[in-house]
Amino acid sequence: MKGIILAGGHGTRLNPMTVAVSKQLLPVYDKPMIYYPLSMLLLAGISEILIISTPQDTPLYRRLLGDGSQIGVSITYKVQDTPRGLADAFILGADFIGNDSVCLILGDNIFYGYDMSGVLQNAIKNLDGATVFGYPVKNPKAFGVVEFDEKHNVISIEEKPTHPKSNYVVPGLYFYDSQVVEIAKNVKPSKRGEIEITSVNNAYLSMGKLKVSLLGRGIAWLDTGTPHGMLKAAEFVEAVQSRQGYYVSCIEEIAWRRGFISTEQLLELGEKLQATEYGKYIISLAGEVLNQ
Ligand code: TTP
Repeated sequence: MKGIILAGGHGTRLNPMTVAVSKQLLPVYDKPMIYYPLSMLLLAGISEILIISTPQDTPLYRRLLGDGSQIGVSITYKVQDTPRGLADAFILGADFIGNDSVCLILGDNIFYGYDMSGVLQNAIKNLDGATVFGYPVKNPKAFGVVEFDEKHNVISIEEKPTHPKSNYVVPGLYFYDSQVVEIAKNVKPSKRGEIEITSVNNAYLSMGKLKVSLLGRGIAWLDTGTPHGMLKAAEFVEAVQSRQGYYVSCIEEIAWRRGFISTEQLLELGEKLQATEYGKYIISLAGEVLNQ
């Protein structure tokens, strides 16, 4: 399975912060926003990753994450000239995906919670067509909303409906088989001129190949698209980290736990950041093993 992070977009809701720099490079508490979606792909065990961003920002992501070898994975980059819509990820990523299945995660989505690894690994193991998630929110109008029948079967997904038919929405984490490329190429732009991921999901639904897996209360899904959302996400991360002592989305830790890098490599990464609490945390993880 391949992984794509969509990290372009206008970021208009975060202006003026995003006038000069891409949204997903902004910090959420102590690390760049893109670390959070990247950590989900690593947690899923995905080691071939494509980052899609704007012409101006792609070099900055490359500066931040390089070719991924420092964390034992492969990271490549693709420029999206204009933000044509989420489904564009599969058109831009067609060669990268090839005949493989793919997980797409939006660069501004943060997930954290109980058995997140299990959720991701189940989605991969049982993939037959497409798997997306359903997450209950108070204000579904801003999202793709799932409609169910009495037997909890999914009937439709409506993009930003005026009258939502449920409070379950589809967060920015999606799993597809390789057919997604052809499906995305046939999506017609919506009224707002974007090729919508909801159209891709509805195409799978009409083939009887869309699974909507409901996420429970144990998992937090945070959207960082607005200043309020960014602040709340930062507070959440800070609270978890200072309370538990475990870091949220420390990419070096996850790469190590997934076996992408050795304990010695982990220590080296930590030492480069030793002026920070983040670096000290990484060093302490390595130390626990090396000093045994
Ligand atoms: P959005 O938050 O829907 O859009 P945006 O980032 O342009 O922000 P705003 O609404 O404030 O203008 O995008 C969701 C994610 O997908 C975000 O991480 C940016 C990314 N994205 C792309 O990379 N390319 C695109 O064509 C679109 C539509 C979004």
